[in-house]
Amino acid sequence: MSTQAPDIEVRASARHALGMPVAAFLRHYWQKQPLLIRGAIPDFVSPLTPDDLAGLACIDGTLGRIVRFDRRRNRWHLENGPFAEARFAQLPKRDWTLLVQDMDRWDPEVRALLRLVDFLPRWRVDDIMVSYAAPGGSVGAHVDQYDVFLLQGLGQRRWQIDARPNPPLAFREDAPIRLLQQFEPSHEWLLDPGDMLYLPPGVPHFGEAENDCLTFSIGMRAPSAGELLAGFAAEQALKLDEELRYADPDLAPTEDPGAIDHAALTRLRQTLSQAMKLDDAALGDWFGRFLSLYRAAERPRPRRISPAQISGRLEREGILVPAASVRMNFTTDGAGRGGATLHGNGESIPVTLELARLCTALNCQIDQTCYAGLDEADRASVIELTRRGWLSWQ
Ligand code: SIN
Ligand code: CO
Repeated sequence: MSTQAPDIEVRASARHALGMPVAAFLRHYWQKQPLLIRGAIPDFVSPLTPDDLAGLACIDGTLGRIVRFDRRRNRWHLENGPFAEARFAQLPKRDWTLLVQDMDRWDPEVRALLRLVDFLPRWRVDDIMVSYAAPGGSVGAHVDQYDVFLLQGLGQRRWQIDARPNPPLAFREDAPIRLLQQFEPSHEWLLDPGDMLYLPPGVPHFGEAENDCLTFSIGMRAPSAGELLAGFAAEQALKLDEELRYADPDLAPTEDPGAIDHAALTRLRQTLSQAMKLDDAALGDWFGRFLSLYRAAERPRPRRISPAQISGRLEREGILVPAASVRMNFTTDGAGRGGATLHGNGESIPVTLELARLCTALNCQIDQTCYAGLDEADRASVIELTRRGWLSWQ
Protein backbone atom coordinates (compact mmCIF):
# COMPACT_ATOMS: atom_id res chain seq x y z
CA MET A 1 0.00 0.00 0.00
CA SER A 2 1.38 3.42 -0.94
CA THR A 3 1.58 6.00 1.84
CA GLN A 4 2.50 8.85 -0.50
CA ALA A 5 0.36 12.01 -0.08
CA PRO A 6 -1.94 12.56 -3.09
CA ASP A 7 -0.79 15.19 -5.64
CA ILE A 8 -2.01 18.74 -5.11
CA GLU A 9 -1.90 19.51 -8.85
CA VAL A 10 -3.21 17.39 -11.72
CA ARG A 11 -4.11 17.85 -15.39
CA ALA A 12 -7.59 17.03 -16.65
CA SER A 13 -8.02 14.57 -19.49
CA ALA A 14 -10.79 13.99 -22.01
CA ARG A 15 -12.06 11.17 -19.79
CA HIS A 16 -11.59 12.82 -16.43
CA ALA A 17 -12.46 16.51 -15.99
CA LEU A 18 -11.11 16.26 -12.44
CA GLY A 19 -7.88 14.69 -13.64
CA MET A 20 -8.89 11.40 -12.00
CA PRO A 21 -11.97 9.19 -11.63
CA VAL A 22 -14.70 10.83 -9.54
CA ALA A 23 -14.40 8.09 -6.91
CA ALA A 24 -10.69 8.94 -6.41
CA PHE A 25 -11.49 12.64 -6.09
CA LEU A 26 -14.19 11.95 -3.49
CA ARG A 27 -11.95 9.60 -1.59
CA HIS A 28 -8.77 11.69 -1.45
CA TYR A 29 -9.80 15.34 -1.87
CA TRP A 30 -13.52 16.07 -1.25
CA GLN A 31 -13.83 17.79 2.14
CA LYS A 32 -10.21 16.86 2.84
CA GLN A 33 -7.53 18.39 0.59
CA PRO A 34 -7.14 21.19 -1.97
CA LEU A 35 -6.57 20.25 -5.61
CA LEU A 36 -5.60 22.32 -8.63
CA ILE A 37 -6.97 20.88 -11.87
CA ARG A 38 -5.27 22.28 -14.97
CA GLY A 39 -7.51 22.37 -18.04
CA ALA A 40 -10.73 21.20 -16.30
CA ILE A 41 -12.50 22.79 -19.29
CA PRO A 42 -10.10 22.81 -22.25
CA ASP A 43 -10.18 26.02 -24.35
CA PHE A 44 -12.75 27.47 -21.99
CA VAL A 45 -14.46 30.62 -23.21
CA SER A 46 -16.41 32.46 -20.54
CA PRO A 47 -20.17 32.51 -21.22
CA LEU A 48 -20.24 36.03 -19.72
CA THR A 49 -18.25 39.19 -20.38
CA PRO A 50 -17.32 41.68 -17.64
CA ASP A 51 -19.92 44.05 -19.13
CA ASP A 52 -22.65 41.36 -18.91
CA LEU A 53 -21.79 40.91 -15.24
CA ALA A 54 -21.85 44.65 -14.52
CA GLY A 55 -25.22 44.88 -16.33
CA LEU A 56 -26.67 42.08 -14.20
CA ALA A 57 -25.39 43.72 -11.00
CA CYS A 58 -27.56 46.75 -11.87
CA ILE A 59 -30.79 44.68 -11.93
CA ASP A 60 -33.07 44.68 -8.90
CA GLY A 61 -33.08 41.24 -7.27
CA THR A 62 -29.48 40.28 -8.13
CA LEU A 63 -27.04 39.99 -5.23
CA GLY A 64 -24.00 42.04 -6.19
CA ARG A 65 -21.12 43.46 -4.13
CA ILE A 66 -18.13 45.63 -4.95
CA VAL A 67 -15.03 45.15 -2.81
CA ARG A 68 -12.34 47.82 -3.11
CA PHE A 69 -8.90 47.88 -1.54
CA ASP A 70 -7.08 51.10 -0.81
CA ARG A 71 -3.47 49.88 -0.81
CA ARG A 72 -2.00 53.13 0.45
CA ARG A 73 -4.19 53.17 3.57
CA ASN A 74 -4.55 49.37 3.85
CA ARG A 75 -8.34 49.84 3.95
CA TRP A 76 -11.11 47.67 2.55
CA HIS A 77 -14.44 49.05 1.29
CA LEU A 78 -17.66 47.17 0.58
CA GLU A 79 -20.69 48.34 -1.43
CA ASN A 80 -23.88 46.33 -1.93
CA GLY A 81 -25.92 46.30 -5.16
CA PRO A 82 -28.01 46.83 -7.13
CA PHE A 83 -25.71 49.49 -8.64
CA ALA A 84 -26.37 52.45 -10.90
CA GLU A 85 -24.65 51.95 -14.27
CA ALA A 86 -22.71 55.15 -13.71
CA ARG A 87 -20.99 53.58 -10.67
CA PHE A 88 -18.76 51.43 -12.87
CA ALA A 89 -17.39 54.43 -14.79
CA GLN A 90 -16.29 55.98 -11.46
CA LEU A 91 -14.26 52.98 -10.27
CA PRO A 92 -10.44 53.10 -10.34
CA LYS A 93 -8.34 51.18 -12.88
CA ARG A 94 -7.09 48.72 -10.26
CA ASP A 95 -7.78 46.93 -7.00
CA TRP A 96 -11.52 46.28 -7.04
CA THR A 97 -13.78 43.28 -7.55
CA LEU A 98 -17.45 42.95 -8.48
CA LEU A 99 -19.05 39.74 -7.18
CA VAL A 100 -22.52 38.54 -8.17
CA GLN A 101 -24.12 35.59 -6.44
CA ASP A 102 -26.68 33.06 -7.86
CA MET A 103 -25.56 33.57 -11.48
CA ASP A 104 -26.56 29.97 -12.29
CA ARG A 105 -30.17 31.06 -11.82
CA TRP A 106 -29.86 34.08 -14.07
CA ASP A 107 -27.96 32.62 -17.00
CA PRO A 108 -28.52 29.16 -18.55
CA GLU A 109 -24.95 29.00 -19.89
CA VAL A 110 -23.55 29.68 -16.42
CA ARG A 111 -25.97 27.08 -15.04
CA ALA A 112 -24.62 24.56 -17.55
CA LEU A 113 -21.22 24.78 -15.78
CA LEU A 114 -22.81 22.81 -12.94
CA ARG A 115 -22.17 19.74 -15.10
CA LEU A 116 -18.64 19.89 -13.66
CA VAL A 117 -20.06 18.85 -10.28
CA ASP A 118 -22.80 16.54 -11.54
CA PHE A 119 -21.37 13.77 -9.35
CA LEU A 120 -22.56 15.66 -6.24
CA PRO A 121 -26.18 15.87 -5.09
CA ARG A 122 -27.52 19.12 -6.59
CA TRP A 123 -28.91 20.25 -3.25
CA ARG A 124 -25.33 20.37 -1.92
CA VAL A 125 -24.62 23.14 -4.44
CA ASP A 126 -25.41 26.63 -3.24
CA ASP A 127 -24.78 28.72 -6.33
CA ILE A 128 -22.30 29.89 -8.93
CA MET A 129 -20.89 33.26 -7.93
CA VAL A 130 -19.15 35.15 -10.70
CA SER A 131 -16.54 37.77 -9.96
CA TYR A 132 -14.91 40.32 -12.20
CA ALA A 133 -11.67 41.78 -10.87
CA ALA A 134 -9.70 44.69 -12.28
CA PRO A 135 -5.91 44.15 -12.18
CA GLY A 136 -4.82 43.82 -8.55
CA GLY A 137 -8.42 43.13 -7.48
CA SER A 138 -9.10 40.57 -4.75
CA VAL A 139 -11.34 39.99 -1.77
CA GLY A 140 -8.35 39.55 0.54
CA ALA A 141 -7.07 36.48 2.33
CA HIS A 142 -9.96 34.59 3.92
CA VAL A 143 -11.45 31.17 4.65
CA ASP A 144 -14.85 29.87 3.57
CA GLN A 145 -17.05 27.48 5.54
CA TYR A 146 -18.01 25.58 2.42
CA ASP A 147 -16.27 23.64 -0.32
CA VAL A 148 -15.71 25.68 -3.47
CA PHE A 149 -14.58 24.99 -7.04
CA LEU A 150 -12.92 28.14 -8.42
CA LEU A 151 -13.00 28.01 -12.21
CA GLN A 152 -10.96 30.64 -14.02
CA GLY A 153 -13.09 32.21 -16.77
CA LEU A 154 -11.12 35.07 -18.29
CA GLY A 155 -7.64 36.50 -17.76
CA GLN A 156 -5.40 35.19 -15.04
CA ARG A 157 -5.60 35.07 -11.29
CA ARG A 158 -2.76 34.30 -8.90
CA TRP A 159 -4.04 32.00 -6.17
CA GLN A 160 -2.19 31.47 -2.94
CA ILE A 161 -3.42 28.98 -0.37
CA ASP A 162 -2.26 27.76 3.02
CA ALA A 163 -2.71 23.99 2.87
CA ARG A 164 -0.99 23.29 6.21
CA PRO A 165 -2.90 21.77 9.11
CA ASN A 166 -4.34 24.20 11.71
CA PRO A 167 -3.66 27.54 9.99
CA PRO A 168 -4.21 30.72 12.06
CA LEU A 169 -7.86 31.77 11.60
CA ALA A 170 -8.22 35.05 13.57
CA PHE A 171 -10.15 37.71 11.66
CA ARG A 172 -9.22 41.33 11.09
CA GLU A 173 -11.58 43.58 12.98
CA ASP A 174 -11.14 46.69 10.85
CA ALA A 175 -12.65 45.37 7.58
CA PRO A 176 -16.26 45.15 6.35
CA ILE A 177 -15.58 41.63 5.00
CA ARG A 178 -14.14 38.62 6.86
CA LEU A 179 -10.38 38.77 6.34
CA LEU A 180 -7.58 36.90 8.03
CA GLN A 181 -5.18 38.76 10.29
CA GLN A 182 -2.34 36.50 9.19
CA PHE A 183 -1.86 34.59 5.98
CA GLU A 184 1.20 32.58 4.99
CA PRO A 185 0.82 30.74 1.71
CA SER A 186 2.18 27.24 1.33
CA HIS A 187 1.32 27.06 -2.42
CA GLU A 188 0.98 29.56 -5.24
CA TRP A 189 -0.31 29.14 -8.81
CA LEU A 190 -1.28 31.31 -11.75
CA LEU A 191 -4.61 30.10 -13.18
CA ASP A 192 -5.55 30.40 -16.84
CA PRO A 193 -9.07 30.10 -18.27
CA GLY A 194 -10.38 26.55 -17.79
CA ASP A 195 -8.14 25.81 -14.77
CA MET A 196 -10.03 25.01 -11.59
CA LEU A 197 -8.99 25.09 -7.94
CA TYR A 198 -10.95 22.95 -5.48
CA LEU A 199 -10.83 24.02 -1.83
CA PRO A 200 -12.43 22.17 1.05
CA PRO A 201 -13.85 24.27 3.91
CA GLY A 202 -11.38 26.10 6.15
CA VAL A 203 -8.39 26.44 3.77
CA PRO A 204 -7.06 30.04 3.83
CA HIS A 205 -6.84 31.46 0.30
CA PHE A 206 -6.05 34.66 -1.51
CA GLY A 207 -6.68 35.27 -5.22
CA GLU A 208 -5.38 38.39 -6.92
CA ALA A 209 -6.18 39.35 -10.52
CA GLU A 210 -3.13 39.71 -12.77
CA ASN A 211 -5.23 41.37 -15.46
CA ASP A 212 -8.97 41.73 -16.30
CA CYS A 213 -10.24 38.58 -14.66
CA LEU A 214 -13.47 36.59 -14.37
CA THR A 215 -13.76 33.74 -11.85
CA PHE A 216 -16.69 31.33 -11.50
CA SER A 217 -17.03 29.99 -7.94
CA ILE A 218 -19.17 26.88 -7.69
CA GLY A 219 -19.99 27.07 -4.00
CA MET A 220 -21.37 24.22 -1.93
CA ARG A 221 -23.58 24.50 1.09
CA ALA A 222 -24.14 22.46 4.19
CA PRO A 223 -26.68 23.65 6.74
CA SER A 224 -25.28 23.99 10.24
CA ALA A 225 -26.54 21.69 12.97
CA GLY A 226 -28.02 24.80 14.64
CA GLU A 227 -30.01 25.75 11.52
CA LEU A 228 -31.23 22.18 11.11
CA LEU A 229 -32.29 21.86 14.70
CA ALA A 230 -34.06 25.23 14.81
CA GLY A 231 -35.91 24.58 11.53
CA PHE A 232 -36.88 21.03 12.35
CA ALA A 233 -37.86 21.69 15.96
CA ALA A 234 -40.04 24.70 15.07
CA GLU A 235 -42.13 22.59 12.69
CA GLN A 236 -42.13 19.44 14.76
CA ALA A 237 -43.27 21.34 17.86
CA LEU A 238 -46.53 22.27 16.08
CA LYS A 239 -47.26 18.65 15.16
CA LEU A 240 -46.47 16.86 18.42
CA ASP A 241 -49.22 15.33 20.47
CA GLU A 242 -49.78 17.27 23.73
CA GLU A 243 -49.83 13.87 25.47
CA LEU A 244 -46.15 13.36 24.72
CA ARG A 245 -44.49 15.06 27.66
CA TYR A 246 -41.94 14.58 30.41
CA ALA A 247 -43.14 11.70 32.64
CA ASP A 248 -41.68 10.05 35.73
CA PRO A 249 -43.65 6.95 36.75
CA ASP A 250 -40.33 5.56 38.08
CA LEU A 251 -39.84 8.47 40.52
CA ALA A 252 -37.99 7.66 43.77
CA PRO A 253 -38.30 9.88 46.91
CA THR A 254 -36.09 12.94 46.47
CA GLU A 255 -33.53 13.88 49.08
CA ASP A 256 -32.79 17.26 47.61
CA PRO A 257 -36.05 18.92 46.42
CA GLY A 258 -34.32 21.91 44.80
CA ALA A 259 -32.08 19.80 42.54
CA ILE A 260 -32.58 18.40 39.02
CA ASP A 261 -31.04 14.97 39.40
CA HIS A 262 -29.42 12.59 36.92
CA ALA A 263 -32.61 10.46 36.61
CA ALA A 264 -34.56 13.59 35.55
CA LEU A 265 -31.99 14.30 32.82
CA THR A 266 -32.27 10.71 31.56
CA ARG A 267 -36.09 11.06 31.33
CA LEU A 268 -35.65 14.44 29.60
CA ARG A 269 -33.32 12.89 27.03
CA GLN A 270 -35.91 10.16 26.39
CA THR A 271 -38.71 12.72 25.91
CA LEU A 272 -36.64 14.72 23.45
CA SER A 273 -35.54 11.70 21.45
CA GLN A 274 -39.17 10.52 21.21
CA ALA A 275 -40.13 13.97 19.95
CA MET A 276 -37.40 13.75 17.29
CA LYS A 277 -38.33 10.27 16.05
CA LEU A 278 -39.21 10.36 12.35
CA ASP A 279 -39.34 7.91 9.49
CA ASP A 280 -37.47 8.54 6.21
CA ALA A 281 -40.57 9.85 4.44
CA ALA A 282 -41.33 12.51 7.07
CA LEU A 283 -37.67 13.47 7.47
CA GLY A 284 -37.16 13.66 3.69
CA ASP A 285 -40.27 15.77 3.26
CA TRP A 286 -39.15 18.24 5.92
CA PHE A 287 -35.54 18.39 4.66
CA GLY A 288 -36.63 18.89 1.04
CA ARG A 289 -38.88 21.79 2.03
CA PHE A 290 -36.18 23.22 4.31
CA LEU A 291 -33.55 23.15 1.54
CA SER A 292 -35.96 24.67 -0.96
CA LEU A 293 -36.11 27.80 1.20
CA TYR A 294 -32.43 27.91 2.08
CA ARG A 295 -31.00 31.41 1.45
CA ALA A 296 -34.10 32.27 -0.61
CA ALA A 297 -33.90 35.97 -1.43
CA GLU A 298 -37.26 35.96 -3.19
CA ARG A 299 -40.41 33.82 -3.22
CA PRO A 300 -42.24 32.90 -6.44
CA ARG A 301 -45.47 34.68 -7.29
CA PRO A 302 -48.51 32.40 -7.78
CA ARG A 303 -50.52 33.09 -10.94
CA ARG A 304 -54.11 32.61 -12.05
CA ILE A 305 -53.71 30.77 -15.32
CA SER A 306 -55.99 28.22 -16.95
CA PRO A 307 -54.87 24.93 -18.59
CA ALA A 308 -56.08 26.35 -21.92
CA GLN A 309 -53.91 29.45 -21.50
CA ILE A 310 -50.88 27.28 -20.75
CA SER A 311 -51.35 24.95 -23.71
CA GLY A 312 -52.14 27.97 -25.93
CA ARG A 313 -48.87 29.65 -25.00
CA LEU A 314 -46.89 26.42 -25.48
CA GLU A 315 -48.43 26.12 -28.95
CA ARG A 316 -47.26 29.67 -29.67
CA GLU A 317 -43.69 28.45 -28.91
CA GLY A 318 -43.69 29.41 -25.25
CA ILE A 319 -41.21 27.43 -23.11
CA LEU A 320 -41.58 26.74 -19.40
CA VAL A 321 -38.42 26.67 -17.27
CA PRO A 322 -37.80 26.54 -13.49
CA ALA A 323 -38.29 30.02 -12.02
CA ALA A 324 -35.06 31.77 -10.92
CA SER A 325 -36.53 32.30 -7.45
CA VAL A 326 -37.30 28.62 -6.79
CA ARG A 327 -34.93 25.89 -5.66
CA MET A 328 -36.45 22.49 -6.41
CA ASN A 329 -35.35 19.08 -5.15
CA PHE A 330 -37.20 15.82 -4.77
CA THR A 331 -37.48 12.74 -2.62
CA THR A 332 -38.54 9.36 -4.00
CA ASP A 333 -41.09 7.09 -2.43
CA GLY A 334 -38.29 4.64 -1.69
CA ALA A 335 -40.48 1.73 -2.77
CA GLY A 336 -39.44 1.99 -6.43
CA ARG A 337 -43.03 2.67 -7.47
CA GLY A 338 -42.02 5.61 -9.64
CA GLY A 339 -43.53 8.17 -7.32
CA ALA A 340 -41.74 11.25 -6.01
CA THR A 341 -42.38 14.36 -3.99
CA LEU A 342 -41.17 17.60 -5.48
CA HIS A 343 -40.16 20.28 -2.98
CA GLY A 344 -39.99 23.99 -3.75
CA ASN A 345 -40.77 27.28 -2.01
CA GLY A 346 -41.08 25.43 1.31
CA GLU A 347 -43.92 23.26 -0.08
CA SER A 348 -44.30 19.72 -1.44
CA ILE A 349 -46.19 18.33 -4.43
CA PRO A 350 -46.52 14.61 -5.27
CA VAL A 351 -45.42 13.98 -8.88
CA THR A 352 -44.03 11.14 -10.96
CA LEU A 353 -40.30 10.45 -10.67
CA GLU A 354 -39.97 11.32 -14.36
CA LEU A 355 -41.44 14.80 -13.86
CA ALA A 356 -39.37 15.37 -10.70
CA ARG A 357 -36.20 14.59 -12.68
CA LEU A 358 -37.31 16.79 -15.56
CA CYS A 359 -38.02 19.80 -13.29
CA THR A 360 -34.67 19.53 -11.50
CA ALA A 361 -32.54 18.83 -14.60
CA LEU A 362 -29.85 21.39 -15.47
CA ASN A 363 -31.36 22.00 -18.88
CA CYS A 364 -35.07 21.74 -17.96
CA GLN A 365 -37.19 23.23 -20.75
CA ILE A 366 -40.82 22.26 -21.24
CA ASP A 367 -41.91 23.11 -24.75
CA GLN A 368 -44.95 21.98 -26.70
CA THR A 369 -43.39 18.65 -27.75
CA CYS A 370 -42.23 17.84 -24.23
CA TYR A 371 -45.62 18.80 -22.73
CA ALA A 372 -47.55 16.75 -25.27
CA GLY A 373 -45.36 13.73 -24.45
CA LEU A 374 -46.30 13.82 -20.76
CA ASP A 375 -49.13 11.72 -19.42
CA GLU A 376 -52.29 13.39 -18.14
CA ALA A 377 -51.22 13.43 -14.48
CA ASP A 378 -47.87 15.05 -15.32
CA ARG A 379 -49.59 17.65 -17.50
CA ALA A 380 -51.86 18.50 -14.55
CA SER A 381 -48.75 18.81 -12.35
CA VAL A 382 -47.09 21.15 -14.87
CA ILE A 383 -50.20 23.35 -14.72
CA GLU A 384 -50.09 23.34 -10.92
CA LEU A 385 -46.33 24.16 -10.88
CA THR A 386 -46.93 27.04 -13.28
CA ARG A 387 -49.77 28.34 -11.13
CA ARG A 388 -47.54 28.22 -8.06
CA GLY A 389 -44.82 30.08 -9.95
CA TRP A 390 -42.23 27.27 -9.70
CA LEU A 391 -42.19 27.11 -13.50
CA SER A 392 -42.21 30.32 -15.48
CA TRP A 393 -42.00 31.41 -19.11
CA GLN A 394 -38.51 31.58 -20.50
C1 SIN B 1 -13.37 35.82 -5.96
O1 SIN B 1 -13.95 35.30 -6.93
O2 SIN B 1 -12.76 36.89 -6.06
C2 SIN B 1 -13.39 35.19 -4.62
C3 SIN B 1 -13.82 33.81 -4.56
C4 SIN B 1 -13.43 33.16 -3.25
O3 SIN B 1 -12.37 33.43 -2.73
O4 SIN B 1 -14.15 32.32 -2.71
CO1 CO C 1 -13.19 32.24 -0.83
